[in-house]
Amino acid sequence: MSIIECGNVGYSYDLGVTKVLWDISLNIEKGDIVAVLGHNGSGKSTLIKHFNALLKLQEGRITVADIEINNETNVWELRRRIGVVFQNPDNQFVASAVEDDVAFGPENYQVPRDEIGEKTRQALSRVGMNGYEKRLTHTLSGGQKQRVALAGVLAMDPDILVFDEATSMLDPEGRRELLDYIKELNEESNKTIVMVTHYVEECYIANKVMLMKEGRLLKAGEPRDILGDEELLLSSGLRPPIATQIYLELKKRGIELDCCPLTEEELVESICRLS
Ligand SMILES: Nc1ncnc2c1ncn2[C@@H]1O[C@H](COP(=O)(O)OP(=O)(O)OP(=O)(O)O)[C@@H](O)[C@H]1O
Ligand SMILES: [Mg+2]
Repeated sequence: MSIIECGNVGYSYDLGVTKVLWDISLNIEKGDIVAVLGHNGSGKSTLIKHFNALLKLQEGRITVADIEINNETNVWELRRRIGVVFQNPDNQFVASAVEDDVAFGPENYQVPRDEIGEKTRQALSRVGMNGYEKRLTHTLSGGQKQRVALAGVLAMDPDILVFDEATSMLDPEGRRELLDYIKELNEESNKTIVMVTHYVEECYIANKVMLMKEGRLLKAGEPRDILGDEELLLSSGLRPPIATQIYLELKKRGIELDCCPLTEEELVESICRLS
């Protein structure tokens, strides 16, 4: 069942002078982890800002969880079903203290008072930010801000979570932890995940990759089909992950591994199977 459907979506920020999205049609199924991959400026954020009606639909049609996003009466329900962690967390905070910010969503959606404190604590603890409840958001580091923004979305428990470069301010360990957590949310709670990224290395957790270039959806498919296609990636200003590059290089030299690896672990495993 498709949980997000886009048909022929187009968008321009300047009344049609420069189009930044062209004829985008895609389906995201319930329980998918989709990586929206593309170079800077390829239109990834513009696309996903439509999903929770932050941008007004200009061309085409979008439904999210069967909700028409261009009907303003639906926005309230829409934002309960889909949570977005934005690229720049500063734009996401609504309250100055961490705990008030995380509690803002549940408070607005009439979650009973006595449950809000618990939900806030749980969400902050999940992102490793317990103890920071009283801190002011503007005094946090970039990575800490990103974690608090994520807690704010988790406290709402939406069916669909969208991460717009949500790892950009995290250190390698924090990045890995978040990716593991995204996978866990998907596997254990059947959340649908859309992760926007220009890091090819992060796509290994996805079951589908949508490659964007200059406002168009260039290709959608299995991660190995997209990331193993060096020519396709190079034409979009990207390179395959290191492990995949080594696989492709070995192949050129006549050494064929039994699968196209996306991570170093997968590469090591397939080399060990060579004999
Ligand atoms: N608020 C805005 N006003 C005018 N143009 C914009 C605005 N936001 C984005 N654009 C333009 O739209 C195009 C797509 O930008 P978008 O932010 O969607 O790309 P992106 O793929 O998310 O890039 P990045 O990887 O850098 O985040 C770019 O050419 C950008 O300059
Ligand atoms: Mg962006």
